[in-house]
Amino acid sequence: MKLTKRLEKIASLVSDNVKVADIGTDHGYIPVYLLKEDKIKSAILADINKGPLNNAREEIKKMGLENLTDLRLGSGVSVLKTNEVDEIIIAGMGGVLISEIIEDGLDVCKSCDKLILQPMQAPEELRKYLLNNNFEIIDEHMVNEDFRIYEIIEARYNPKFKNNPEEIYLELPKQLIDRKEPLMKIIILKKIKECNSILEKIGNSNGKSVEERISYLNSRKNKLETLIREMEE
Ligand SMILES: C[S@@+](CC[C@H](N)C(=O)[O-])C[C@H]1O[C@@H](n2cnc3c(N)ncnc32)[C@H](O)[C@@H]1O
Repeated sequence: MKLTKRLEKIASLVSDNVKVADIGTDHGYIPVYLLKEDKIKSAILADINKGPLNNAREEIKKMGLENLTDLRLGSGVSVLKTNEVDEIIIAGMGGVLISEIIEDGLDVCKSCDKLILQPMQAPEELRKYLLNNNFEIIDEHMVNEDFRIYEIIEARYNPKFKNNPEEIYLELPKQLIDRKEPLMKIIILKKIKECNSILEKIGNSNGKSVEERISYLNSRKNKLETLIREMEE
């Protein structure tokens, strides 16, 4: 079974020999792949919608994995009991929805060893939620598929963990800048281009709110350029 680069990267972050839940599983490709590879003990595949869960059911049947899987219909991690799984995957949804799913099932998420999260939008909102709620971001990853860059966050609950990063690092994780992740450089350059394009459009307009906007954009651009220099050192 061949996974796409995004799904393959998510699957590679699951530890060996664990019980996994895949929330919003849809096709069920990640847990099916992990079971086929003998990497995990068992999997719970959950989805809020019947159609996607039926897709997963078909895939499990095709691969003969009925004994190692459990299919659950419901929202977020409400389908799980505390300590029922070791690791939870929540991928392919918006960052805000992922943070709401964690918030709604806080005890379950705190009880597991690792959350593997792949937000499609607003990753900075998800990071903000995690860090404000004592979830430690263990690591960050990026993967390029079909001209799109996907961000993947590994996190776990750690009541002793304190981190209050600068706003810019919620958008552009420091781990990836320190590691000089090439895809991060592409994202930063794109954000600089966006700043320049807005500054050009604002042009010679004036007024207090315009001045404030120009000042914000210039300061943001400076920060982004500093990050690029750091990555090139
Ligand atoms: C775009 S698909 C992502 C599928 C797969 N996880 C992936 O990354 O390729 C999003 C899936 O999440 C499901 N979903 C959306 N909100 C959900 C929720 N609150 N709880 C569980 N599943 C949800 C949808 O039904 C859909 O199957």
